[in-house]
Amino acid sequence: MSKIKKIAVLTSGGDAPGMNSAIRAVVFSAAHLGMEVVGVFRGYDGLIDWETTPIGVEDVRNINNQGGTILFTSRSERFLQQEYRQQAADNLQKHGVDAVVAIGGDGTLRGAIEFRKEGVNIVCIPGTIDRDVACTEYTLGFDTAANTATEAIDKIRDSSVSHGRCSVVEVMGRKRGYIALWAGMATSADAIVLPEKWDGNFDNITDSIAKRHADGRNSYLVVVAEGVIDAPELAERIRQKTGIESRVSVLGYIQRGGQPTAKDRMYGSLMGAYAIEILNQGKENRIVAIKNDLLIDFDIAEALTLQNNTLDSFQYELSLRLSE
Ligand code: F6P
Repeated sequence: MSKIKKIAVLTSGGDAPGMNSAIRAVVFSAAHLGMEVVGVFRGYDGLIDWETTPIGVEDVRNINNQGGTILFTSRSERFLQQEYRQQAADNLQKHGVDAVVAIGGDGTLRGAIEFRKEGVNIVCIPGTIDRDVACTEYTLGFDTAANTATEAIDKIRDSSVSHGRCSVVEVMGRKRGYIALWAGMATSADAIVLPEKWDGNFDNITDSIAKRHADGRNSYLVVVAEGVIDAPELAERIRQKTGIESRVSVLGYIQRGGQPTAKDRMYGSLMGAYAIEILNQGKENRIVAIKNDLLIDFDIAEALTLQNNTLDSFQYELSLRLSE
C-alpha cells in the first residue's frame, strides 16, 4: 500500500496543449490507487495562496480535447523567494498533502528543485511548447504548436505566392529553435533562423534569397525563432538587397492554444499516469521523461544538469540541405 494518500496537481509557466490530458491521467490514476487529489489553481501562486479544489474523475472525464489548462497557470514571481516557498510548504502540510505533481517547463522544474528543500516531495511532468527540457526527448504541447505554426505558415505562403513577396514569419520557442526548425522544414522554408545556430550573418540569408530571385523565383519564406533577430529588420534587409516586398508575421499565442493533437493527448496521459506510478513506488523528487520513446524518470536536480541540450544535428543539417 502506498504511503501517498493525498496529492496536489498544478500547471505552471506557459500553458501547453496536452496539460489537460496529463491532469486527467493524474486524477484517474490516483483515484485508481485510492489517493485523494487536490487541484491547485494558477501554478505555484495557488500553492502560496492555497487556491485549490478537490478533483475527482468526473471533473476531468472529458477534458482531453481542451486546449490550455483547466487549472490555469502563472509564472510566479513570489515562488522565487524562500519565504513564499515555505508558506506553500506549510499549506501542503496543513492540508495533509503528501506529494505535488507539477506540470510545466524549465521554470517549473527550477521552482521544484528549490521547493524540495522545504521538505516537499514533488514530481514534474515536462509541459511546454518549446521542447526545451534537456532530460526528455518530448515536452507536452510541442506537437500541437508545431502543427499550428505549420498550418498558419501554409496560409501565409498562399498570400505570399499570390503577391510575389517574401514572408518572414516569427514563431515561438524562447531559447530553443525546435518549433522554427519543424515548422520551417514542414513548410519548405528558404531559410530558418535558430537561436542555437545564429551567427549574426544576415548576408547568408539575403544573398541566398537574392540568388533565388535571380534564378526566377517569385516568392520566399523565412522562418525565424523569436528572440534571435529582429524580424522587421530582417525583412527590411531582404527588401534592400533584393527589391522584393517583404512582410513580417508574428504567430504569437495561437501557437500555445487550440485542441491538442493525438500525440499530446497520448503523451499527456502516459506522463500523468507514470507520475502517479512512481509516487506510488515511493520515489521522490523526480521528473518524468521520454527517451527512445519510453517513459523514464530522473532526479529533478540531475535533470537540470542536463540543461545544455542542443538541436538534433541530423535534423539541422537536413534543414540546410532541404532549403538549398
Ligand atoms: O510557453 C513557452 C513560451 O511560449 C515561449 O515560447 C515564449 O517565449 C514564452 O512562453 C512567452 O510567455 P509569456 O506567456 O510569459 O508571454
